[in-house]
Amino acid sequence: MMSIKKFNVEDIRKDFPILKEQVYGKPLTYLDNAATTQKPQAVIDTLTRYYSKENANIHRGIFCLSEQATKRYKSARHKVQEFLHAASDKEIVFVRGTTEAINLVVQSYGRTFLKPGDEVLITHMEHHSNIVPWQMLAEAIGIRLKVAPINDQGELILEEFKKLLTEKVKFVSVVHVSNALGTLNPVKNIIRWAHEKNIPVLVDGAQAVAHTPVDVQDLGCDFYAFSGHKLLGPTGIGVLYGKKEFLDKMPPYQGGGDMIRAVTFEKTTYNDLPYKFEAGTPHIAGVIGLGAAIDYIRSVGLDRIEAYEQELLKYGTEKLLEVQGLRLIGTAKQKSAILSFVLGEAHAHDVGTILDRQGIAIRAGHHCAMPVMQRFKVPATTRASLAFYNTREEIDRFADALREVTEVFR
Ligand code: ALA
Repeated sequence: MMSIKKFNVEDIRKDFPILKEQVYGKPLTYLDNAATTQKPQAVIDTLTRYYSKENANIHRGIFCLSEQATKRYKSARHKVQEFLHAASDKEIVFVRGTTEAINLVVQSYGRTFLKPGDEVLITHMEHHSNIVPWQMLAEAIGIRLKVAPINDQGELILEEFKKLLTEKVKFVSVVHVSNALGTLNPVKNIIRWAHEKNIPVLVDGAQAVAHTPVDVQDLGCDFYAFSGHKLLGPTGIGVLYGKKEFLDKMPPYQGGGDMIRAVTFEKTTYNDLPYKFEAGTPHIAGVIGLGAAIDYIRSVGLDRIEAYEQELLKYGTEKLLEVQGLRLIGTAKQKSAILSFVLGEAHAHDVGTILDRQGIAIRAGHHCAMPVMQRFKVPATTRASLAFYNTREEIDRFADALREVTEVFR
């Protein structure tokens, strides 16, 4: 494992082979990190090695390769435990991604412990993955969804949130960092307020884990969800952290192999945590690849990543505000490095297409957060989302290209 003593973005960029690529003959300027991050060579090598030298199913084999794969799978779970500072690796459940993690909690905890008329409190800045599963539960069992409002800066209005935390609320599910606005929510306070009323809290950490240190014991959350591919890891693998006391009493989400202790046609008993929630052959390569991604990110250091990205955010915000007609959507005081904006009358998709011809990859659309677009009365935004391998030069290139877009639409 490489070790970076001093944060040097040019050294870091060398670890990400894709950053040397060209698009339409221009250097790739990758600013779509909220959608997915690029992968360091260490992760790519781990996946290649696993498939070319180590591939075997886990937990079942009595042969060397299977034992090794099982060991590596277990060790990756331990890495995730340390990364989140969870109390036990039994509290780390591997799932496909944040979406599946939230669906697991909704279908297992929600269906079992929520009753018709109970309220679930979310916020106006949630991703669809923290809205739609709850709406599905509302249709199925008659819970009610309440939405805490946000202000014009895209910040949660904390006084309103507290007012909505009535005795009818039986679950709170909030995003740590908004993918559409960049807002960093004060989740520790939110959790404390909810816990004062014995309300469990799930935190959607999809946009947080690669950008700020997360300590689930310090936060006190009952559930925390994230996706591997937004953390330099492979797609198709993610994590649900759940406090043991909750996971213990929750029924399995899916049935099948590996999640059982004994099966007869009369009665089946379930496996211990976390296997109770991991039915079927898991994404073994994904888990091991995620372990490598965590090793890499820890070797750089999330404190340093956060400090660097905050500098880049400040620089990017200033540069973008110099572009005529550009309006930022999401100007919270506490923000992650996401720059979402509208540009005069130009549609976000047209902006995206023009930028693409310059080799600049951004996202245009509603970002799976349509209620945020409705709140700001825009059909879509153009979004640049930064990572610690982005540079000021890339931001300059991006701002210059936006100036060219404004010329086209003049
Ligand atoms: N939710 C991801 C994004 O914000 C895909 O781009």
